[in-house]
Amino acid sequence: MARLLDGSDPQAIEAAAAALRAGEVVAFPTETVYGLGADALNEQAVAQVFAIKNRPRFDPLIVHLPSKEMVPQYAAVIDERAVALMERFWPGPLTLVLRKRPLIPDLVTAGLDTVALRVPAHPVALALLRAVGRPIAAPSANPFGYVSPTTAPHVQEMLGDAITLVLDGGPCAVGVESTVCALTEKDAIVLRPGGVTVEEIEAVIGPVTIASASQSDPRSPGTLPRHYSPHVPLTLLAPGESIPHPRKGERAGLLTLAPCSGVEGYSVVEALSKDGNLVEAAANLFATLRRLDSLGLEQVVVEPVPEHGLGRAIMDRLRRAARG
Ligand code: TXA
Ligand code: MG
Repeated sequence: MARLLDGSDPQAIEAAAAALRAGEVVAFPTETVYGLGADALNEQAVAQVFAIKNRPRFDPLIVHLPSKEMVPQYAAVIDERAVALMERFWPGPLTLVLRKRPLIPDLVTAGLDTVALRVPAHPVALALLRAVGRPIAAPSANPFGYVSPTTAPHVQEMLGDAITLVLDGGPCAVGVESTVCALTEKDAIVLRPGGVTVEEIEAVIGPVTIASASQSDPRSPGTLPRHYSPHVPLTLLAPGESIPHPRKGERAGLLTLAPCSGVEGYSVVEALSKDGNLVEAAANLFATLRRLDSLGLEQVVVEPVPEHGLGRAIMDRLRRAARG
């Protein structure tokens, strides 16, 4: 079983950094979700990440850096939009896809000529990145296709037997993955909605294109239609659709944005936020899905959330989780 170390302990950071330098795989917290990290320049270490997650090799990894000053080492083109976005949102939940330099291994980028870069806003992640002194490739620390982990125990439960070390940094404050934004073409494209909202990005660089969520986009190989899925079947309601009654004798769960009254017949009702707040809802999303998944329910009916701000990322995850 993996050792769970307190990420605020400098000795734990040193141990994790030494493991990463030695080519091992380490789980660590970020502000979005927990990551499964390996030295991005060590192809064998990166191969282990794919193996542990059972992740297809066509799905490229995000490379994490301790500061934007390191970007020119790995990205070949850094235009004004990139500079403005890094300035405004880093450290933070925004990943930029830029033309890559050759020293990033093809395995990391799935053979694309671009690389996804991000500086995470979590003190433990930043301390680790500084201590390692190398870029860290890290997908979310879950088996491929399952719900992303937002606490260290989530990582332990799913991958504890496959790795040796998990740094604990508490629950993730943002709770959904970073926004992936490609700047390799004339139009900026949001490939995955996430912790930085489209509205916030547009306030800095003007209108962006949003990649379709209904299909997998060849520009972002990882955005598969089915993803982030608990085992229990999810039924996502349409906006305004009234909440159905469970069948007689059915053990069903209901997931809503805010607490609601007057619904009957559900074995369990969970609200993502006390008062319909989308920031709180995002932070609670994955842990709530996991909890509902552990109850042996026959299905979970999910109310949609408004599709603005963080609601866009929440709905993206719910749609993929519901598709089966
Ligand atoms: O918040 C996050 O981004 C977390 C934490 C750990 O940093 N990481 C994460 O990684 O969510 P992962 O592997 O679960 O998702 C990475 C996404 C995938 O959709 C992948 O296809 C996309 O980023 N991606 C990575 N490199 C890319 C590239 N060169 N071009 C286009 N998309 C890329
Ligand atoms: Mg993931």
